[in-house]
Amino acid sequence: MNQWESRWQEGRIGFHLPQVNSYLKRYADKLLAQVPESVFVPLCGKTLDLPWLAGKTKKVVGVELVSQAVEEFFEENKLNYSLQPAGQLQLYSHESIDIFQGDFFELMPEQTGHFEAIYDRGSIVALDQPERQKYVEHLLSFLSPGGRILIITLEYEQNQMSGPPYCVPAEEIELLFSRYGRLELLETCDVLDDRFRNKGLGALQEKVFQLAEK
Ligand SMILES: C[S@@+](CC[C@H](N)C(=O)[O-])C[C@H]1O[C@@H](n2cnc3c(N)ncnc32)[C@H](O)[C@@H]1O
Repeated sequence: MNQWESRWQEGRIGFHLPQVNSYLKRYADKLLAQVPESVFVPLCGKTLDLPWLAGKTKKVVGVELVSQAVEEFFEENKLNYSLQPAGQLQLYSHESIDIFQGDFFELMPEQTGHFEAIYDRGSIVALDQPERQKYVEHLLSFLSPGGRILIITLEYEQNQMSGPPYCVPAEEIELLFSRYGRLELLETCDVLDDRFRNKGLGALQEKVFQLAEK
C-alpha cells in the first residue's frame, strides 16, 4: 500500500477542508477570467472545491490516486456517478464533474482535452522535490495556450518537518513555472496553527500565485 492509500485508510487527511478554499473563492475571478469551458484539478482528493467550481463552469475534471477518496467524494456530496475504464485509470462521472482515479502521471491530455484554467491546491506540495519538475512538465501539457493556473504553496523550514506537505518556496515556483509565463504573487498568509506547531514548525506561510501567459 502506498503512503497515500494508508493516509486515506487511516483518516490522516488533515489537508481536507470542511469548506471551499477561501483563496479559491477570493481569486476565482482571476482564474476564470477567460470563462473557461472546463477547469482541471490535479491531485484533487475529495475537495469541496470541485462542486463549487462546477457551479461556475461547464465541467470540472479532477484526478486522484486513491479510490477511497473518490468514492467518499461522491458519497458525501450525495452525487451518483457512472464508472468506466479510462486507459490505466478509472473514470467516475457525474454530470459536470469527472474524476479520473489513478496516477496523474498516467493520465494524458488526449483523455481530458486541454484546459484554460488549472487549480493546484495541496498538489505540488504533496510531491517531493525530485517529482516536482516532472509534475510541472506534465501539468503544463494539460494547459491550453493562454491558460491560467492558480497555485497555492506552503513555505516553512524543511528541516523542521519531513513532508508531505513539503515546503515549495517562491524561488522554486518561479524556476519551475516561469518558462511558461508570468507569475504573480497574489497573497501571502501566516497559517501556523497547533497542528503544525506540534509537528515542530516555528513558522508556516501559504502563498497564492497566478500563472498567466507572458
Ligand atoms: C495533500 S492532498 C490534497 C487534496 C486536494 N487537492 C485538497 O485540496 O484537499 C494530495 C492528494 O493527492 C493524491 N495523490 C498523491 N499522488 C498522486 C498521484 N501521483 N496521482 C494522483 N493523485 C495523487 C493523494 O491521494 C491526496 O489525496
